[in-house]
Amino acid sequence: MDSILIQGGGALHGQIPIAGAKNACLALMPATLLAEEPLTLTNVPRLSDIATMTQLLQSLGAEVSSLADGKVLAMSSHDAENHVADYDIVRKMRASNLVLGPLLARHGHAVVSLPGGCAIGARPMDLHIHGLEQLGAEIELKEGYLHAKASRGLKGARIELRFASVGATENILMAATLAKGTTVIENAAREPEISDLATCLRAMGAQIDGDGTRTITIQGVDRLSGATHPVVTDRIELGTYMLAPVIAGGEVELLGGRRELVSAFADKLEESGAAIEQTDTGLKISRKNGRMNAVDVTTAVYPGFPTDLQAQMMAHLCTADGTSVLEETIFENRFMHAPELMRMGADISVEGGTATVRGVDRLKGAPVMATDLRASVSLILAGLAAQGETVVSRVYHLDRGYEQVVRKFRAIGANIERIKS
Ligand code: EPZ
Repeated sequence: MDSILIQGGGALHGQIPIAGAKNACLALMPATLLAEEPLTLTNVPRLSDIATMTQLLQSLGAEVSSLADGKVLAMSSHDAENHVADYDIVRKMRASNLVLGPLLARHGHAVVSLPGGCAIGARPMDLHIHGLEQLGAEIELKEGYLHAKASRGLKGARIELRFASVGATENILMAATLAKGTTVIENAAREPEISDLATCLRAMGAQIDGDGTRTITIQGVDRLSGATHPVVTDRIELGTYMLAPVIAGGEVELLGGRRELVSAFADKLEESGAAIEQTDTGLKISRKNGRMNAVDVTTAVYPGFPTDLQAQMMAHLCTADGTSVLEETIFENRFMHAPELMRMGADISVEGGTATVRGVDRLKGAPVMATDLRASVSLILAGLAAQGETVVSRVYHLDRGYEQVVRKFRAIGANIERIKS
């Protein structure tokens, strides 16, 4: 397995282009199953998760062609007849469960493996199942697979989500576009990826209002047509690279970055001492002055502080002046980066969903291990300013969600390389 070697060092300067959003693209791709005509996505990120979703859609009979060096996906599910999403693919990537709603809506049946847990939590699907059942689906769990059918088609309903689940909102939203009548989703997720999906579905002929708010209303239509849609900018990649000059010093511009995509995170970063400037071409980040200061962080559903930026923020707070308290409220086990940061000299204590970080002057490079996608990049961020050499192993986690990660860090002067093994 490859590893990444970082020599901690000086300030960082330069520009990094921000790619299309992984978590938007993983919901947009299954939308092709809803229409017979082609759906083309542009600004597609080059990531292994996109390759996994491509493999899954092809296993369902869809045609998926990757063009323009992976930045364009031309898809057609005109002849897609298979409605079984196999465990071998689904277990690799939870987002595979987003084919459930589209398969049900288009074909009236679907067999989708339960994704199983992952490092950060059990990741149940009760909200997806409950919402689709309210649209008239009958869903049964048999030998690890969800067997879903809607023999009389799906019918609009009013659905109240116990928790503003991103995936459940996306599955219900996609299914409702072809249901008979009106569907209202209350306490819907409000993440920008939901609005991006709704924009794409509207371009395909769906009638959707309220995306981005707590209440989404969908008028079902008989069929959807094809479309071409640009994937929205990746706010988690943006936030991740915003932390590089904050941790190591210098000034970096993130091309395509827009503050409104990361406003809660940007507010916290400014509170900690960062200077953030929106330019015509992106977001410019630097430290206001020398030492950064500690801040408290509580993750929440959008528009709150994103859970997907918690690990990266912790890497920064390890060397901020003072004590920070981080509350992780979305996932039950998302502090696995803490013990690895402690190997680098961080002073962190974890109690359930709360991590207390006491800032130290400087971290020291060490061999550390990536455990999940966002934890892996937080270790690289920590290595940027650590004294000496940091080696991050199991970097396949990184390839799932960070396009050309070594190249992007080198573009701003980081001393970083990938060691093939
Ligand atoms: C999406 O996952 C993202 N993944 C995650 O990003 C992100 O962390 C998460 O939303 C929260 O923002 C994709 O979009 C592909 P949820 P999702 O349903 O949809 C519980 C990354 O690093 N829950 O909002 O799975 C669940 O256990 C990944 O890019 C239920 O209890 O997230 C979790 O505790 C990691 N029942 C919480 O809700 C359900 O039916 C949030 O889950 C569904 C979820």
